[in-house]
Amino acid sequence: MLKGNILIIGANRGLGLGFVTELLKMPEINIFATYRNTETSKGLFELSKKHNQLKMHQVDITNDTDIKNFKKELSRIAIDYLIINAGIFNDTEATIKMVEPSSLMKLFKTNSIGSIMILQALLDNVIAGDKKVVMSISSKAGSISSYESCRRFSYRASKAALNSLMRNASLELEEMGVKILIMSPGWVKTDMGGQNALLEIQESVSGMIDVLENEKSYKTGSFLDYQGNNVPW
Ligand SMILES: NC(=O)c1ccc[n+]([C@@H]2O[C@H](COP(=O)([O-])OP(=O)(O)OC[C@H]3O[C@@H](n4cnc5c(N)ncnc54)[C@H](OP(=O)(O)O)[C@@H]3O)[C@@H](O)[C@H]2O)c1
Repeated sequence: MLKGNILIIGANRGLGLGFVTELLKMPEINIFATYRNTETSKGLFELSKKHNQLKMHQVDITNDTDIKNFKKELSRIAIDYLIINAGIFNDTEATIKMVEPSSLMKLFKTNSIGSIMILQALLDNVIAGDKKVVMSISSKAGSISSYESCRRFSYRASKAALNSLMRNASLELEEMGVKILIMSPGWVKTDMGGQNALLEIQESVSGMIDVLENEKSYKTGSFLDYQGNNVPW
């Protein structure tokens, strides 16, 4: 079981809420969970009313002011585990003619830039933690060498860029004792994955929590699936 402080970015639905639900079964963990909109976060609010170990914070990872305010709110809080889960999807760009600059910019802004800027903002909190583990939720869509057909230009590119940013950071931060694990959660039944997906939320999230529990078995900068197997770059 995990112990200490864990922060989940993008925790109000899908995999993020799945992490919160599973982690609430662990009595020795304090959960800091972020959301953007009150309307889409009712389940998370309900859980926070019932569980003192769950604290909520509002942050949009594409908004510099939000990130600054969030950093202030969390100052002095050591984070043992940081899960950067927030992400957006676009399934429309199947051919080169369909590629939209606005889509590329939007997906990079959240999936790549937002994720690395959150890590930058909260680095002192992670360094102050005992565990110093960061889990970045990427996707097999970021595994360029696995591509077999052309699809999802912006989403794939934004996750490949995320992998580059996180792997780069892992090399710098290793000497500070920070470990970064880049995850492919599998195809999961969420708003993003849709109901035809192969995995239930609980299955993917439990696997990724096992990876956190066994983090010592993984090298920093690894790209892993939800069962802890290496994913090709
Ligand atoms: N589901 C899959 O099959 C699958 C497969 C591979 C990878 N992934 C990755 O897994 C992660 C979670 O996906 P999911 O399936 O749980 O998706 P989801 O159900 O669509 O949830 C996405 C989450 O990200 C949050 N978010 C989006 N933009 C944000 C922003 N600018 N600031 C803060 N939070 C933001 C959303 O908050 P709001 O409610 O405010 O929008 C929501 O909590 C994503 O990074 C995704 O790329 C998912």
